[in-house]
Amino acid sequence: MGIRKLQTNTSGILDIEGHQIELPVIEGSEGEKGLDIGRLRANTGYVCVDPGFVNTASCLSQITYLDGEKGVLHYRGHPIEDLAENANFLEVSFLLIYGEMPNPTELKQFQNDIAQNSKTTQFISSIGKALPKDTHPMGILSSLMVALSADKPELVKQDLSADERNLAVHHIMAQIKNLTAMCYRVNKGLDFVPSDPGADYVEDFYTMTFKGTEHESLSPVVKDALNTLLILHADHEQNCSTSSVRLVGSSKANPYASIASGINALWGPLHGGANQAVIEMLEQMHADGGGYKKFVEKAKDKNDPFRLMGFGHRVYKNFDPRAQIIKKACDKVLNQLGITDPLLDLAKGLEKEALSDPYFIERKLYPNVDFYSGIIYKALNIPNQMFTAMFALGRLPGWLAQWKEMLEDPKMKIGRPRQIYQGKSLPSEEE
Ligand code: ACO
Repeated sequence: MGIRKLQTNTSGILDIEGHQIELPVIEGSEGEKGLDIGRLRANTGYVCVDPGFVNTASCLSQITYLDGEKGVLHYRGHPIEDLAENANFLEVSFLLIYGEMPNPTELKQFQNDIAQNSKTTQFISSIGKALPKDTHPMGILSSLMVALSADKPELVKQDLSADERNLAVHHIMAQIKNLTAMCYRVNKGLDFVPSDPGADYVEDFYTMTFKGTEHESLSPVVKDALNTLLILHADHEQNCSTSSVRLVGSSKANPYASIASGINALWGPLHGGANQAVIEMLEQMHADGGGYKKFVEKAKDKNDPFRLMGFGHRVYKNFDPRAQIIKKACDKVLNQLGITDPLLDLAKGLEKEALSDPYFIERKLYPNVDFYSGIIYKALNIPNQMFTAMFALGRLPGWLAQWKEMLEDPKMKIGRPRQIYQGKSLPSEEE
């Protein structure tokens, strides 16, 4: 399947140094418009400057649509609210990767394909066992993701067939749940638990994580909450980690190297690492006496590097629909589990304070997906350090879908941005 290019007859006219250059307009299926500047340098000698890619569409994609102004998010035409309520994580993974919701036969086949790849090899276990107990889970995930390339040497080559791409999808989907569970066990100094190929995806992850601990029984409330969290994180178009997967994958690096680059990008506190940073910030506020006003003032102070973690988003400038779903889920889960967490009250108070402050209003800063997710993870007995690894477990189908879509695009090119050099020049001959 190639990428459908909806191209209108219109074009933009750019006036540079008296010359008028026509730039074709590419239109998206939801009405967004982009100027195709692919020939700009060849025709004019100019390039576009866009640090942070705030205004650059790096690809054409059919996977996820989001409208940051209206707070809309859908995966392949299915609203996120509907998926979070009515689907499970594996169905949503199939939807993202293969384009349609699976019918029961397709879902069964997908489960089987994943199950057949779910054994942890001796080699991976031995690296896991050799890791120091306090290794950060994202370091464990990233290292072991690259190490998995040794399990499937046939996938470490330049061009993969459709069957080989599917094998990579099934193997990595299966293995990330084992690796995420291993993160918990390494940090707790516990032996690893083998995957049960007959088990449901989320149940298998849960058992491999908590077997033999006081949390080993999985209640329906916890299973539902895990499914919701994983679905909400499953894709978010061209964010930092997904763009990393595409960029590395565009060099035809193998799937394990490509996905590991997504894990590494996600680790950063301005991206997926924010969920750990939020809970640490709330704990600090709580320890400080629970006064959030001081922290709001700190966040506004331009001489202080402190930011309100879990607030703000590059694309959402109204509200993050995922944050709204998670906030409701947070209330529900804590209620059903009979947990009262002072951090939830603190978070709500902090949100209210920030949302009525002109600094946050003017800059359109709202709670993002990470603001409330940590409070649920905490209620599910997932340690703070593991939060970003949980995000990676959820984001994997999105990374795989985007990687596969890119490789299937006949017009795929290696990603290679340009720059404007502002350094020293070579000495001129007169000097
Ligand atoms: N607290 C205080 N001020 C903030 C915050 C914040 N959380 N976020 C942005 N601002 C301010 C900036 O200081 C800047 O102010 P200025 O115009 O006076 O200079 C303005 O808002 C715009 O911020 P930018 O950093 O330019 O926005 P950008 O789109 O580059 O960054 C980001 C988005 C990284 C998410 C930012 O809002 C942030 O750092 N938030 C906190 C970390 C976080 O929660 N990350 C998770 C994002 S969701 C995800 O990745 C899954």
